[in-house]
Amino acid sequence: RLRLDRDVYDLTVDKSTAEIVPGVRTPILSYNGTFPGPMIVARRNRTVQVNVHNRLAADTAVHLHGGNTPQASDGHPLDVIKPGASRTYLYPNRQPAATLWYHDHAHHMEAEQVYRGLSGLYIVEDAVSRFRLPSGKHDIPLMFRDVNLGVDGTMTWELFGQPNRSTVLVNGVAQPHLTVQRRRYRLRLLNCSNERSMRFTLGNGASFLQVASDGGFLPRPVSRTEVVLWPAERAEVVVDFAPFKAGTQIMLENADGEVDTAKQLLRFDVAEGPGLFNADTSYVPATLVPAPADRKPTVTRKVVLSFDAANGVFLINGKQFDPERVDFTVKRGSTELWEITNTDTQFQIPHSLHLHLIQFKVLDRDGVKVPEWETYPKDTVRVLPGSTVRILATFDSEYTGVYPFHCHFVDHSSVAMMAQMRIV
Ligand code: C2O
Ligand code: CU
Ligand code: CU
Repeated sequence: RLRLDRDVYDLTVDKSTAEIVPGVRTPILSYNGTFPGPMIVARRNRTVQVNVHNRLAADTAVHLHGGNTPQASDGHPLDVIKPGASRTYLYPNRQPAATLWYHDHAHHMEAEQVYRGLSGLYIVEDAVSRFRLPSGKHDIPLMFRDVNLGVDGTMTWELFGQPNRSTVLVNGVAQPHLTVQRRRYRLRLLNCSNERSMRFTLGNGASFLQVASDGGFLPRPVSRTEVVLWPAERAEVVVDFAPFKAGTQIMLENADGEVDTAKQLLRFDVAEGPGLFNADTSYVPATLVPAPADRKPTVTRKVVLSFDAANGVFLINGKQFDPERVDFTVKRGSTELWEITNTDTQFQIPHSLHLHLIQFKVLDRDGVKVPEWETYPKDTVRVLPGSTVRILATFDSEYTGVYPFHCHFVDHSSVAMMAQMRIV
């Protein structure tokens, strides 16, 4: 029998509806009619081929966020699939196990198209990712995003509309419940909101172990009682429900939510079990992956994120995105130090910086070393108003070409808060 050397998926991008509120069909944009898009599980070093068919009346581009991806498959904002056309993306998955996601990236369109439903999870597995951590039905991917639903259940969309998006959806559903056994669970958290940041806590104050960040495992697990994720950031945590009595309800909360529908995200209902013959044999090793070797940067760059109030535009180093312009030329294999400053102290608008293609190390924020869980591997870093963050980026990908870097408040990137680097 023929054995394919790759896993092949088809994604049809089209209008659809989803039952977000029971009994109401909400018009959405969708991959294969699902909301959010289907989850793709890939294996390290085994190619995934995704055939995307655009049935929209608008352009689309699919970007694998966090992926070590050849330029032709990066979903660059101008490298789009026209209405009615199809396109094949190849993801070689030459990278460690990680919780990634794919989303629309068509220039100027991504804010609305991501908001209306064009995103999905993409998980890379390897031998480490399976190593005794809770797996199978005890490994739960969770996508969180806010939405503004009208009284008739339709999504209302508005650029920079975050303060009005008062309902947070978990995998496309508002305030779901999950029955859990008294054992360990691995939760993969992704904040796929356009603009909302979230502070995840367990309502009873319990701690959990963070085992992974944006691009994969941390060198060792870190005990936390809260995890802050800004748009596009990921964290994997292991929660042990064994200490709680059956019948207990534990709320996964967004402590920053201003109303209950933005605060109470997911209720865990603790049930009996797992029982003698099903005992929890999962285990979180004291070390997960080797810590990356520190390399000396050969280039230092400044990246200034700002808001030009007079013209109402967001800028990177004083400029809006111009696809004809290459902002930085980077040597493949080199290590660079980027000093990223958000100068907007007047309007206090937060920004982040996301680099395509690689994972970087966050060194410090305003001179203060960042905590262990925020160091590496990161592909999106938060930059508060008035603050400076330094990252160490090693361009260790085998791929070269032009790749974007941008603010990952999608509403900002879609209005040109984006730049690009050419890796040579
Ligand atoms: Cu998740 Cu260029 O973005
Ligand atoms: Cu990306
Ligand atoms: Cu921004």
